[in-house]
Amino acid sequence: MSVYDLEQIRLPLQYGSIEPDARDRNESSLEKARDPKKVTAHACLLDRQEKIAQKLGLLPTKTDPTALAQNKQTLADFHSGRIDRTATIERLATDNRLPIEVALGMLAQFAEYGHLELHLTDVCNLNCQGCTYAVARVGAAPADVLPFDSIANLGNLPNAPKSIVVVGGGEPTLYGKGQSRQFHDAMNTLATFARRGTRIGLITNGVIFPELDGGWQEHVRWVRVSIDAAKPATYCTFRGRDKLPIVFNNFLKYLLRTRIKQVGVSFLYSNGNVDDYSDFVCKVYHLVVGSCPTELPRVNIQFRPLRCADPKDNQKFAVSKEQINRQLQKLTQACEGDQALRAFVRRQTNATALWGGNEHPLLRFSACRYSSVAGIVRASGKIIPCFCKVGAAGFVVGDLRALDLPALGLRKLLIRSIVSESECSPETCRMSFINKVVEDYHEDKVVPPGLGELISEQGI
Ligand SMILES: C[S@@+](CC[C@H](N)C(=O)[O-])C[C@H]1O[C@@H](n2cnc3c(N)ncnc32)[C@H](O)[C@@H]1O
Ligand code: SF4
Ligand code: SF4
Repeated sequence: MSVYDLEQIRLPLQYGSIEPDARDRNESSLEKARDPKKVTAHACLLDRQEKIAQKLGLLPTKTDPTALAQNKQTLADFHSGRIDRTATIERLATDNRLPIEVALGMLAQFAEYGHLELHLTDVCNLNCQGCTYAVARVGAAPADVLPFDSIANLGNLPNAPKSIVVVGGGEPTLYGKGQSRQFHDAMNTLATFARRGTRIGLITNGVIFPELDGGWQEHVRWVRVSIDAAKPATYCTFRGRDKLPIVFNNFLKYLLRTRIKQVGVSFLYSNGNVDDYSDFVCKVYHLVVGSCPTELPRVNIQFRPLRCADPKDNQKFAVSKEQINRQLQKLTQACEGDQALRAFVRRQTNATALWGGNEHPLLRFSACRYSSVAGIVRASGKIIPCFCKVGAAGFVVGDLRALDLPALGLRKLLIRSIVSESECSPETCRMSFINKVVEDYHEDKVVPPGLGELISEQGI
């Protein structure tokens, strides 16, 4: 039996005991995260993209099968290098009876993103177990750092993304250390997007509290400090350095020195640190209540499973059903004696995430819509569809340093249309659940329960 066969696990507590409070409207609560309006925002973009795919003869439900096969072959020829960008666009235009300028315009429009992860640098000051991007730091080559001037090129994308999260590859606050353009300069360039309505977020390991020069923090809607431990020894083992007290202190600085609306902490759970799970909630809660109780409403805790790019490695980190039960029981007991803590857990954490273990549900989907809406700008400037494809050369869709919008749209369309069949499977795609529920949503025009939460878990 799989440890994740939840039917078989006799859980010692009622889910309802730490369920989100339906009356709560706090921005960071689970209630808010499940708000279907979050999806509706991206649904408009998906609708626009679906129409483009249809006009280019690449929408399976609306395109004649012979034409679909022919257009897919054109994309496959482009993917394998048999034809170049120009020949591909010409062939797509001719086969679908479109003037070339119209096809170019549609492809440029397909380059629009709803959500982007921006990796400022692959340089890091920690060495965490199972880090997705560790692969990028192996070897003697210097770590990639995004050229400062290319950040402004984000403005050349059609429409501003609804959200941008500044994160890494490495540790974003180390950007430009010792150079003329530093982290705060990079963040200040994003103010333009904030003014156009983009929600800017920051994920940091919190080892350094960055200078607040230029007021960059005024444009940031949320910050999340990745901590993953309640005890210094766990932190040291899991994240590679003895920095836990500094990190908790810097988390408090975000609360006290900035007006960022949501100041979160995250805990990436695996079998190496799961024994700190419940203690982490209590530690964060008591730290804030003890130091700055009026700031508690701004705090949230996000738990996420550690997952490996190669699913075969997942078992190495997977939590056991005993570990799951022990921690959820411990947390329930802590909440039983403390109503305020219980309310905090229900409203401002997703503590029940542990229930799902480290695996992801395996669901079939026919197109990668996730990568049409979301992308990652790596510190090298290369744009990739998702973290599962870090280091997969065939999945680079563009380059922020020299944006070619029709080519970016073409590659996004290619990945959306053909890659899911040949190179991405539910086992390897961490977004298979999202791809499946978005597909259901799109075809049935129904928002499945939990979709908003799912997408927000990915930061969208
Ligand atoms: C890659 S780090 C970059 C930003 C910063 N260095 C930090 O640690 O917050 C961004 C987030 O990804 C998470 N992460 C790293 N490896 C992961 C994995 N294998 N599975 C899921 N999340 C992972 C980290 O815990 C962190 O919260
Ligand atoms: S601090 Fe962030 S980027 Fe650095 S190793 Fe840890 S998870 Fe990876
Ligand atoms: S792994 Fe999933 S999200 Fe990534 S490109 Fe493949 S299908 Fe899309």
